[in-house]
Amino acid sequence: MKCPLGKTRTHMVFADGNPHAELMFIGEGPGADEDASGVPFVGRAGELLSRMIAAMTFDRATETCIANIVKCRPPGNRNPSDEEAAACMPYLKRQIAMVNPKVIVLLGAVPLLYLFNLKGIMKLRGRWLDYDGIRVMPTYHPAFLLRNPPAKKDAWADLQAVMAEFGRKPVPRR
Ligand code: URA
Repeated sequence: MKCPLGKTRTHMVFADGNPHAELMFIGEGPGADEDASGVPFVGRAGELLSRMIAAMTFDRATETCIANIVKCRPPGNRNPSDEEAAACMPYLKRQIAMVNPKVIVLLGAVPLLYLFNLKGIMKLRGRWLDYDGIRVMPTYHPAFLLRNPPAKKDAWADLQAVMAEFGRKPVPRR
């Protein structure tokens, strides 16, 4: 086994959504709910992510693909180690190449660190990056937004920049 996380997981959590989606989200790694179900972003943070996607006027199941840096749950919800992220990176790289999305949204510091070797999500969120010709928007992780609701304003600005790439506008609230 290439990585010790394979020993403690219940399910490997590979991806959710449409494998040919134009919009891809990359999170950190499965939590307890995802480990139990085998599906990424189904717990509390996942519910918020689903609402964020709906607010962007996208359908989560058919118009997005959702993956993580590591496919197995780090025990106790800790961040993946450098070794664990490195062991799983070939799978994510292949996933990105196969999905070939138009835009990737990075959810939080962990994907920013392991896909770009960059630290500082607070400073870098909202700034476009490039991954092999794919536009990449770093924003806050929904679990962070649950703990820090005032940061939702910035995350929404980031998601609106992504929507503009697709020529979509938020639906006005009545
Ligand atoms: N947080 C993540 O980063 N990924 C998941 O799949 C669930 C919670």
